[in-house]
Amino acid sequence: MKKKYALAALGLVGALALAGCGGGGAGSTAGTDKGSVDKGDLLIGVSMPTQTSERWIADGSAVQDGLEESGYQVDLQYAGDDIPTQGQQIDQMITKGADLLIIAAIDGTALSSQLDAAAAANIPVISYDRLIRDSENVDFYVTFDNYKVGVQQATSLLTGLGVLDAEGKETGEKGPFNIELFAGSLDDNNAHFFWQGAIDTLQPFIDDGVLAVPSGQTDIEQAAILRWQQETAQKRMEDLLTSTYGGGTKLDGVLSPYDGLSRGIITALQGTGGLGPDIAAGLPIVTGQDAEIGSVSLINQGVQFASIFKDTRKLAEQSVVVAEDILEGNEPEANDTKTYDNGVKVVPSYLLQSDIVYKDNIGPLLIDSGYWTQAEVDAGVAE
Ligand code: BGC
Repeated sequence: MKKKYALAALGLVGALALAGCGGGGAGSTAGTDKGSVDKGDLLIGVSMPTQTSERWIADGSAVQDGLEESGYQVDLQYAGDDIPTQGQQIDQMITKGADLLIIAAIDGTALSSQLDAAAAANIPVISYDRLIRDSENVDFYVTFDNYKVGVQQATSLLTGLGVLDAEGKETGEKGPFNIELFAGSLDDNNAHFFWQGAIDTLQPFIDDGVLAVPSGQTDIEQAAILRWQQETAQKRMEDLLTSTYGGGTKLDGVLSPYDGLSRGIITALQGTGGLGPDIAAGLPIVTGQDAEIGSVSLINQGVQFASIFKDTRKLAEQSVVVAEDILEGNEPEANDTKTYDNGVKVVPSYLLQSDIVYKDNIGPLLIDSGYWTQAEVDAGVAE
């Protein structure tokens, strides 16, 4: 009852805003003040892309827990990496009367009609981790510094090759080192930021002849792995080994933007049985992202070289803070208002920082912070 009353009042605020008495156009959070409504009457729809990767399961439950602890009702849905399913799930959240949506998109360009419907119903939208593109109706973006993640991925590759030392200084090592490049899913805005950060970091060394890409596949379109699928990465690595490394050319390193892809790449490398003598002698340096337990365990064993730790607990927490601010009619705090242009507008963002995981900092970074336990790292599976 209380909710209905407050929503009627909101309608009035909306009408006043349209009449020019209040600020904010489409996509503005103005008019979403639900501070007078019982939190227990407010429903927040949380749309996550997939349960095939650990991080999204952790993100979904951390966002749900945080929101429920704050007193909100939550409708959490996973879309099985299927674009129409995600669209339908969001449509249903809108029909059910969601008061705010938190969305990690599968395809950042495929949700315009859902976002139009949300705006028409005065439902604010927070883009979670991945930017939703081509829509005016994205109110806020919570994520990590994605360009810097790419820089860190390239830095870990250069460190593994011995081109940079532990402090990030150039050692003078001249190589030449042979590397291959992998990118994420092209429909994920983040994939482009990771790639750009990595390429900007590697390019000077490619130009100097310290690094070479023997396959010649240096465009993001050639390197991309649709939907971030492990098997697709494994297949591409197998194809590269056959096409380029069959004659004994040495492969020294692989830029991989996500741990799932890294494990596919490692499987391909381990399965080469004689394709290139140095591959058999020792695996190339393989990078990653997300500090998934399977990969942290491989890093601990010296099989995968590095990953990037993005503390998804903090991202979830930040999304709850932003949701609460919006619902109470406050302007959420942004720490970046320039970087994330979604094609229609620059979306105010809150960026978190990430860290490179190496074998020697698993303890301080992941175990001491409670992200994984030593037993999980030893077993290679989450408890
Ligand atoms: C996320 C990464 C993740 C990747 C694959 C990206 O959008 O930012 O953390 O590795 O998707 O799920």
